[in-house]
Amino acid sequence: MIALDEEFSNPRLARIYDHLDGDRDDLKPYAAMVDEFHARSILDFGCGTGELLSQLAGRNLKLIGVDPAKASLDVAQTKNGAGDVDWILGGAAELNGLDVELAFITGNAAQVFLTDESWLFALQRLYASLRASGHLVFEVRDPSARGWTEWTRAKTHRVTAIEKVGEIESWCEVTDVSLPYVSFEWTYVFREDGAVLNSRSTLRFRDKEDIRKSLVDTGFELLEIRDAPDRPGEEFVFIAMATSRDRE
Ligand SMILES: C[S@@+](CC[C@H](N)C(=O)[O-])C[C@H]1O[C@@H](n2cnc3c(N)ncnc32)[C@H](O)[C@@H]1O
Repeated sequence: MIALDEEFSNPRLARIYDHLDGDRDDLKPYAAMVDEFHARSILDFGCGTGELLSQLAGRNLKLIGVDPAKASLDVAQTKNGAGDVDWILGGAAELNGLDVELAFITGNAAQVFLTDESWLFALQRLYASLRASGHLVFEVRDPSARGWTEWTRAKTHRVTAIEKVGEIESWCEVTDVSLPYVSFEWTYVFREDGAVLNSRSTLRFRDKEDIRKSLVDTGFELLEIRDAPDRPGEEFVFIAMATSRDRE
């Protein structure tokens, strides 16, 4: 059973997620990698509300979206091109019988794996889902940038007007820093009816060497670590290759 943050699993919060998440320029470099790696079959692991897959729909690609949060997948399935995607409710254990050329983990979903065991299991299942020479691309925040120091009420507070929902007041506060773990809480005030919902999260900030080792231990070849173009100096974008398909 995967423990899920309210912001992904509560239907009321999942419905406003994209509106609060902005224009998603962060996904453009990933969409471009589909052409860069000449991939025709793509898995988005931890796809959430399916933004990346929605951008890739209509291009005659085989698209698979996997996420354990039903409320987020429900939102994903309302989007343009959702019919072009095979949606799988679940996590790494549900990555069975896939054979894709490119797998993504975007939006820092790779940081939700708090234990070595769960992260290595996810990497193993992703490896098994990739064709020989297939690519795995994922992003994580660079711990040395200490991005969580910006997650204060003063710096994150805003009011967002959402059609058919009304105004949402939201802010984030860090509740604990015990590196490599950072815990934080989002508060959402639905001004229309005064409802106040909270979502608590913990992310693991792994350093480059830790991630490099986990990739090598699961059989991947680490090809490159890029900067995220829209957040230079804040994120690592790892690009790894599954070298063979012998380990299922
Ligand atoms: C920050 S969101 C990112 C969603 C999406 N990748 C994006 O860029 O919009 C993190 C996602 O990870 C998913 N998630 C949480 N635990 C997971 C797990 N154990 N396996 C796969 N996905 C998980 C959540 O449900 C959520 O949709």
